[in-house]
Amino acid sequence: MKILILNGPNLNLLGRREPLIYGNITFDQFFESLKKKYADVELHYFQSNVEGEIINKLHEVGFGFDGIILNAGAYTHTSIAIGDAIKGIETPVIEVHISNVYAREEFRHVSYIAPNAKGVIAGFGLQSYELALESFI
Ligand code: DQA
Repeated sequence: MKILILNGPNLNLLGRREPLIYGNITFDQFFESLKKKYADVELHYFQSNVEGEIINKLHEVGFGFDGIILNAGAYTHTSIAIGDAIKGIETPVIEVHISNVYAREEFRHVSYIAPNAKGVIAGFGLQSYELALESFI
């Protein structure tokens, strides 16, 4: 099974960025532990702060992979283009968020990903990614 974890803007700063909201662990640390725990899964990881690069990656893997776990960061709330890209590919996408976006500012309650996603997982810290992975498995 081939799964891509795709992180959007500012998620490269995990571990340092607003630790009270996003925690103290870097994504690389978390990803290493995930790879060990799910050794049977072919897990890939890509992060970009650039909207077009996220779209290119969705196009690249979206006809060959079994699942995409997408945390589009703030683009979740703004990007019609990422929403359209998900609509245009075949691989199912699960939208994830580290924080509970529905308990935060109102602008975070809007998602252009959710209507095109298989499901949404938010508010479980980095475990949100693992729950999405379990769902694909
Ligand atoms: C986030 C929530 C978004 O609103 C925010 O812009 C992020 C991270 C999360 O994982 O909780 O960058 O996607």
